[in-house]
This record gives sequence, structure tokens and C-alpha cells, in this order.
Amino acid sequence: MAKTTILLLVFFFISFFPSSPCCPVDQYHALLQFKSYFFNTSISNSSSDSSLFDLESWNSTNSDCCKWDRVLCDSSKVVIALHLDSISPILSPEPMIVTSEALTPLFRVKTLFLLDISSNSIQGEIPGNGFSNLSKLVHLDMMQNSFHGSIPLQILHLRFLQYLDLSGNSLNGILSPQVGYLRNLKALKLDENFFHGKIPEEIGNLAKLQQISLRQNQFYGEIPASVMHLKELQVLVLRNNSFSGEIPSKIGDLSNMTTLDLSKNFFTGGIPPSIQNLSKLEALRLENNMLSGEIPSWLFNIKALRYLFLGRNKLAWNNKVKIVPKCMLSRLSLKSCGLAGEIPEWISTQKTLDFLDLSENNLEGKFPDWLAEMEVGSIILSDNKLSGFLPPLLFQSLSLSVLALSRNNFSGELPENIGDANGIMILMLAGNNFSGPIPVSISNIYRLLLLDLSRNRFSGNTFPVFSPDAMLAFVDFSSNEFSGEIPVTFSQETQILALGKNKFTGPLPRNLTLMSKLEHLDLHDNKITDELPIFLSKISTLQVLNLRNNSLQGSIPEGLSNLTILQILDLSCNNLTGKIPTEMGNLVGMIETPNTFSSLSDMFTFSIEFNDLMVSWKKSVQGLSSRSLSLYSLLDLSENQLSGEIPVSLGGLKGLKLLNISHNRLSGHIPASLGELESLESLDLSHNMLSGSIPQTLTKLQELTTLDVSNNELVGKIPVGRQMDTMSDPNFYANNSGLCGMQIQVKCQDELPPPEPEENETEESWFSWDGAAIGFPLGFFLSIAILCLTGYLIPMTPPKRLRYQRRRI
Ligand SMILES: *[C@@H]1O[C@H](CO)[C@@H](O)[C@H](O)[C@H]1NC(C)=O
Ligand SMILES: *[C@@H]1O[C@H](CO)[C@@H](O)[C@H](O)[C@H]1NC(C)=O
Ligand SMILES: *[C@@H]1O[C@H](CO)[C@@H](O)[C@H](O)[C@H]1NC(C)=O
Ligand SMILES: *[C@@H]1O[C@H](CO)[C@@H](O)[C@H](O)[C@H]1NC(C)=O
Ligand SMILES: *[C@@H]1O[C@H](CO)[C@@H](O)[C@H](O)[C@H]1NC(C)=O
Ligand SMILES: *[C@@H]1O[C@H](CO)[C@@H](O)[C@H](O)[C@H]1NC(C)=O
Ligand SMILES: *[C@@H]1O[C@H](CO)[C@@H](O)[C@H](O)[C@H]1NC(C)=O
Ligand SMILES: *[C@@H]1O[C@H](CO)[C@@H](O)[C@H](O)[C@H]1NC(C)=O
Ligand SMILES: *[C@@H]1O[C@H](CO)[C@@H](O)[C@H](O)[C@H]1NC(C)=O
Ligand SMILES: *[C@@H]1O[C@H](CO)[C@@H](O)[C@H](O)[C@H]1NC(C)=O
Ligand SMILES: *[C@@H]1O[C@H](CO)[C@@H](O)[C@H](O)[C@H]1NC(C)=O
Ligand SMILES: *[C@@H]1O[C@H](CO)[C@@H](O)[C@H](O)[C@H]1NC(C)=O
Repeated sequence: MAKTTILLLVFFFISFFPSSPCCPVDQYHALLQFKSYFFNTSISNSSSDSSLFDLESWNSTNSDCCKWDRVLCDSSKVVIALHLDSISPILSPEPMIVTSEALTPLFRVKTLFLLDISSNSIQGEIPGNGFSNLSKLVHLDMMQNSFHGSIPLQILHLRFLQYLDLSGNSLNGILSPQVGYLRNLKALKLDENFFHGKIPEEIGNLAKLQQISLRQNQFYGEIPASVMHLKELQVLVLRNNSFSGEIPSKIGDLSNMTTLDLSKNFFTGGIPPSIQNLSKLEALRLENNMLSGEIPSWLFNIKALRYLFLGRNKLAWNNKVKIVPKCMLSRLSLKSCGLAGEIPEWISTQKTLDFLDLSENNLEGKFPDWLAEMEVGSIILSDNKLSGFLPPLLFQSLSLSVLALSRNNFSGELPENIGDANGIMILMLAGNNFSGPIPVSISNIYRLLLLDLSRNRFSGNTFPVFSPDAMLAFVDFSSNEFSGEIPVTFSQETQILALGKNKFTGPLPRNLTLMSKLEHLDLHDNKITDELPIFLSKISTLQVLNLRNNSLQGSIPEGLSNLTILQILDLSCNNLTGKIPTEMGNLVGMIETPNTFSSLSDMFTFSIEFNDLMVSWKKSVQGLSSRSLSLYSLLDLSENQLSGEIPVSLGGLKGLKLLNISHNRLSGHIPASLGELESLESLDLSHNMLSGSIPQTLTKLQELTTLDVSNNELVGKIPVGRQMDTMSDPNFYANNSGLCGMQIQVKCQDELPPPEPEENETEESWFSWDGAAIGFPLGFFLSIAILCLTGYLIPMTPPKRLRYQRRRI
């Protein structure tokens, strides 16, 4: 990067020499055409506020295009550099979509040395032919667009090229203060380039190449051997692709290398010994691959090394080797590397350390005093076996911004002086043995964004009072021993407030409505009394409301349906009475297929499991990670004393995946409209006083995997066809007033003999009586498989359904 800056400075000085009065006419026209073309090809025209585009100076009032913004000319008044990054307003509510054709006019400016068109959401393939015109290019930056296809060969023939950035973009690896204020994160929708395929061998033609980044694309295959010809290479970034194979053993020949980032791929094999010859290497990032073997201790002899990321491979740390580092690291990640024993003391020699991630190891012992004394910015020690008190010294650090100690065995009270560390943004202490009250000083940490104290033994009924404009967006105090009234002393910025599984009492405080950004309110398993207050419907940002297992009385207020983006409503296990309001059918968030952008996703790349929402899902309690909530839409009103009929309007909640109204006093018929709940996977109507028959429309529920109608007064034939044929657990039909059907092996009175077997597959196939099943809904399997893979859904009971056999006659 430094080199580029120098390059630009040189250009800058050159452009001061006066020469011919104007830029060439053809370049002037080419640029004006680019401007109009760029905006004409934008599909959305709502954001036509040209001030956003920063190209006002590109107009005919001034015919010298060398004087325009973002244009640089040399002494002979020809355009040599165009800085066209971020000219389309990606962050506007309706992003512009520009196709790569918009670049066409630029290919007439053949004198370009530098072209930067990064961050513009440009779509389509890279126009290769055009780049063959720009044969003088030294610096080409196209990152953060939406290009797809491969790298055109014409680019790989640009023989002067020194800098090539085709990376997509996303919030990258480390959360540090430099990331800035995260509160705007939600608005960032970052586009990626989508280059598929292998890197062409022709990459070896770029003999002058010093820096290349292909980060966050979809390249696969091995690193081409020709890359070893790029002797000038200093920076090689292949992060987050699907590269595989071994790291080339000759990588050590690229002796000018300063940054080697191969993280987030599928590389195998060991760390090549030749890397120790890279004496200028400053950053080595190999994390999140499938590398194996021992972590070589010579890595710490590379004097220039500053960043070392090896976590999440199959690498093994030799706990016996004594490390005497010759490097002075500022960032170190040895996550999941098999470290055992105490936190290695050689780390104390790394005086410049700013980021330390030793999570997912077997470290034990105390939090070392030497570490507390170092001014480290991020300390991530989650998922180890560390114990003892936190040293108060730690909180005298003004650098500390991330402290993640979740799932260890730390104990004792939090030091009173915790608030002295007022640079902390992320404080995660979940799953330890901490006790006592939360120190009041914690509210002095004005940048605190995430506070996770869940699953400890904290207690008390007084809470720190945060300033209303504090940044505190995520608060999780669940599973502790807090008591008193629900605290509302958090910030107005709070988006997630999880206080479940404590001993809170009293009514819901009206001040909850002051949290005007609250999306997720989880107060399950407390002792909240009083009626379900209507003022909750004023928190129009709510997506998740969980009041399960409290002592709420009275009826469900109709106004609750004003919560138009509510996706998860759990009022189960309370003492609610009256009817289910017809207006519930208007809960828009449960009608549309959810597509909300989870505010937490991608924010923390060091793994966090923050505030799993516990819900009753298919007859077992499951944790839904807050990251995946957008996938769900649930309505659970079970275990109350609701009466009256099931409103027909509930059939309108087409986005619902789970509807549980069991264990109430509901009467009347099951409305046929429930057959319209096309996404429904689980329907529980058991333990009510429902009468009549099961409506035939339920055969339309193609995603259904659990249906429980037991303990009602239902009669008649259980509908057959599609998923209904798989609903064959007799327990789910038990204790009714005369159900019959093949699912429960009870013949109906009027039943005809089985029809002749047919060759043709009809919608109502005939099944054997022994619990045959067909067509598990693909959607269900896919989503569960994905959830399990990604660890979103933590099954607490093994799935039973897999035992069914597919059989057809
Ligand atoms: C862009 O649109 C303007 C007005 O709508 C038109 O005059 C101009 O010719 C268009 N330019 C191109 C390159 O299509
Ligand atoms: C562009 O704006 C015009 C007038 O404001 C509108 O009629 C038209 O539908 C818009 N086109 C698109 C694609 O948004
Ligand atoms: C044209 O560009 C000049 C600066 O070069 C600027 O002062 C002027 O406001 C621009 N005119 C328009 C119509 O944008
Ligand atoms: C290359 O430049 C010439 C003349 O400047 C132009 O006519 C031609 O269209 C350009 N090629 C491409 C592919 O844009
Ligand atoms: C990695 O890249 C894929 C697309 O290629 C993207 O969906 C994903 O979010 C990226 N992950 C990170 C952590 O950047
Ligand atoms: C490496 O960098 C040095 C100094 O920047 C330069 O002189 C040399 O040519 C470069 N290339 C190789 C192969 O060392
Ligand atoms: C390091 O470089 C030297 C000379 O360039 C070479 O002899 C040696 O084999 C290299 N070491 C490794 C481990 O590749
Ligand atoms: C955690 O620490 C406590 C003492 O504070 C000890 O009794 C307990 O056994 C430890 N638990 C584990 C799993 O090490
Ligand atoms: C609740 O709101 C009232 C005014 O509406 C205010 O006086 C009181 O201090 C607030 N309580 C808390 C704990 O914020
Ligand atoms: C529910 O309400 C009934 C009658 O109002 C009361 O007797 C019962 O104790 C309540 N149950 C709970 C769990 O609050
Ligand atoms: C719900 O919205 C309607 C119309 O927007 C409004 O008239 C009504 O007062 C709202 N109810 C509550 C409880 O906020
Ligand atoms: C299968 O169905 C088609 C059309 O529905 C019918 O013409 C054909 O005779 C059927 N075949 C058998 C074997 O029933």
C-alpha cells in the first residue's frame, strides 16, 4: 500500500507541471459518456440525487477534465489515474445496480496507469476486451463489486501491472476498535465479486505484480505453479475461497513476500518449511483450513512477523517445546490448536500484542497477572478450562476493547473497577461461575456494545444505570439469579434484551417502550405477574417476544397484532385467559417469508454463541441461535387457559413454521384454514376440547413433520395423502372421541376395501400399516441439515423420524 501512495504522490507532483491547457477532447468525451452511461444503466432511479455521486465537477462548464474531481493527469495533460471508488451509493436504501457495460467509455482512456472502480456494485462479467486497451495499467482495483465469471486473460497480459485487487468484501477477521462504530452495521450490505473457477496459469505473466488480492470469491483448485514466477510479489491474499491442495513448497522462493493470507480455504498438508526463508514476512494467515502436522517453532524466528493466525486447522501445538520468540507480534491467533497447561508465558515477551485469541484449547490455571498488565486490545480465551478470579489489574487497561472469556470456570465477583476499562466494546463472560452483583461502574463503559453475562450465578436486584444514549445494543443476563423488577436501565440503542431464566418478579415495566430499537425481548422463565400489557405493541421494532413460563394473566390484547415484524411470539406456560384474538391473523411478520437481516450475523468472526433463544420446537426444547432467527416464524400460546374457538384468521400466517396452541381450553372445530399454513412444520393442537373431524385441508401442509391432536374430542377419519400419511404416531391421536384411519390402524366404519395398486403415482398413494412414510419435505431436511452443520440448532434429543422406511406398493 505504501508503494501505491508513493506512486500517487509522484503522479500528483507531475500533474503540477503546466503544459497544454486542456485534457484531450476524446478523453473529455469518454469521461462524460461514462458518467451518463453509469447512471443510465442504473436500474433504480429513485436515488438520482447526484450529490451522492460526487461527480458534479464532471460537467461541460469546465472542459479541462484534468481539473475534475477524481481525475489525475500527467504533465502532458493526459488522464493517467481515475479514482472512481464508491461513486454509486451502496448504502442508500435502494442500491443502484450498474452493469459492467457502464465501464465501456473508460476503455478509450488508454493512457491510464491507475483505475480504481472499487465499491460500486457493478454487475456482470469483466469486459476483457476493454482491458486490452489499457495496456499501461499499473494499478487496478475492482474490489467490492458484483462481478462474476473468470478473470479475463486480457488482464493477465497487462505487463506493467503491479497491483491487482479483485476481492469482494466483508467485515474481516478481527474485530478491533478500528472497525469503528458498529452501530451502523445493519445498514451495510456488502457485495461480493463472484469469480468462479481456477486461477489461470497465465497469472505468471504478470511479472511486475507486487500485490494481488482475490479475497472472498469462489475460486477453487490449487494455487497455480506459475505464481512462483511472480518474484516481485509482496502481498498474496486468497482468503475465503475454496482453494485446496497443499501450500506450494516453493513459496519460500518469493523472497519479497510480506503478507501471505491463505485463510478460509481447504488447504491441506503441513506448513511448508520454506516459509522460514521469507525474512520480510509480516503477516501469515493460515487459519480456517485443513492444515495438519505440528506447528513449527521456527515461525517465531521470523523477525519481521507481526500477524500470525493459525487457528481452526488440524494443527497440533507441541506443549513441550520452549518458545523463545525473535518476532514481536501484534496479533496472534492459536484458536483450537491443542494448547494445554497454563497460558504460555512466552507471550509476555510480545510487548506490542494487540490481539490474542487462544480460544477452544485446553488451557487451565488462572488468568495470568502478566497478561492483565499487558495492554492488549482483544483477549479471547473462550472455551478453555481457566479458573479463579479476574485480576482487577486487567481493568486498568485503557486498550482493552474485546474481552471474551465465555465457557471457562472463572469464579468470584467481577472487580469493582471494571468500569475503568472504558474502551471495552465486547464483554462476554457467559458460562462461568461468576457470582455477586454486576458492579455499578460497568455503566461507565460508554462504548460497550455487547454485554453477555448469561449462564453464571450473578445475583442482586440493582442494576447499573446506563446512559440512554449509550451504545449498548446487546444485553444477555439470562440464566442467572437476578431478582427484583425487570431492569430497564439500559440504553435506548438496545436491540436485544435477554433476561430469561432468572427470578425477576413484578409487572412488565412501561419503560420498556423507551427502547425504541428493541428487536428481541426474551424474559422467559421468570415470575412476571400482571396482565400482558398493551403497551408492548408500541415497540414496533420487536421481532422476537418470549414471555414463556411466567405468571401472566388476563387476555391477549388485540393490539399485539400491531407488531408488524414480529416473527416469534412465545406466550406459553402462563395463565392467559379469554379468546385468541382474531387480529392475530394480521401479524405480518408471520405472514411473509422471513427475510430480515440478522444484526448479529457476520459481526463477530471469532466464534460466538450469543443468546440462543430457547423455544419448544417439535416437542423438544431447542436453542435457536440469534443469528438464525430470521429463518423462523413461531407462534406458541400453549399451556394457558385460552378458550373459545381457534380463529379462522390464523390460517393467514403463511410464514409460520410452528403453531402450538396445545394445553388450553379451546373448543369448536379445527378451522379448515389451517391447511393454508404452507410453511408449517409442526402443529400442536393437543389437550383442548376441539371437536368435529380433522380437516382434509391439512393434507396441503407439505412441510409438516409433527402433528399432535391428542386429548381432544375429535371424531372421524384422519385425512390421508402426502405428509398426512407420515403422521402415524398413535400417541398424537390418543384420547379423542373416535378417530379412525390407517395412521392409527383403526378402520373407519365406512371404509372401502383398499383400492387396486396403481402403476401411476397418484397423490393419494396407499401405504402399508406399519408406519410407512414418503416424501419427507425437502425443505425441512435442508434447513435442519444446514442448521446442524452450522451449529445453529442444537438438537437436544436425537431425531427419531429417521427410522421410518420408505415403502410403496
Ligand atoms: C443517458 O440518458 C440521457 C437522458 O435520459 C440521454 O440524453 C443520454 O444519451 C443517455 N446516455 C447513454 C450513454 O445512454
Ligand atoms: C423512474 O422514475 C419514474 C418517475 O419518477 C417512474 O415513473 C419510473 O417507474 C421509475 N422507474 C424505475 C425503474 O424505478
Ligand atoms: C460543474 O463543475 C463545477 C466545478 O468544476 C462546479 O462548480 C459546478 O457547480 C458544476 N455544475 C453543475 C451543473 O453541476
Ligand atoms: C479501444 O479503444 C478504441 C479507440 O480509442 C475504441 O474505439 C475501442 O472501442 C476500444 N476497445 C474497447 C473494447 O473498448
Ligand atoms: C466468504 O465468502 C462467501 C461468498 O463467497 C460469503 O458468503 C461469506 O460471507 C464469506 N465469509 C466471510 C467470513 O467473509
Ligand atoms: C524485492 O524487493 C527489493 C527491494 O524492494 C527489490 O530490489 C528486488 O528487486 C525485489 N525482488 C526480488 C526478487 O527480490
Ligand atoms: C532457504 O533458502 C536457501 C538459499 O536460498 C536454501 O538453500 C534453503 O534450502 C532454503 N530453506 C528452505 C527450508 O527451503
Ligand atoms: C470450577 O471451579 C470450582 C471452584 O471454583 C470447582 O469446584 C469445580 O470443580 C470447577 N469445575 C470444573 C468443571 O472444573
Ligand atoms: C421510567 O420512566 C419514568 C418516566 O416515564 C422515569 O421517571 C423513570 O426514571 C424511568 N425508570 C427507569 C428505571 O428508567
Ligand atoms: C392461574 O389463575 C388461577 C385463577 O385465577 C389461579 O388459581 C392460579 O394459581 C394461577 N396459576 C398461576 C401459575 O399463576
Ligand atoms: C394499532 O394500530 C391501529 C392502526 O394503525 C391503531 O388505530 C391502534 O390504536 C393501534 N393499537 C395499539 C394498541 O397501538
Ligand atoms: C396413468 O395415468 C394416465 C393419465 O392419467 C393414464 O392414461 C394411464 O392409463 C395410467 N396408467 C395406468 C397403468 O394406470
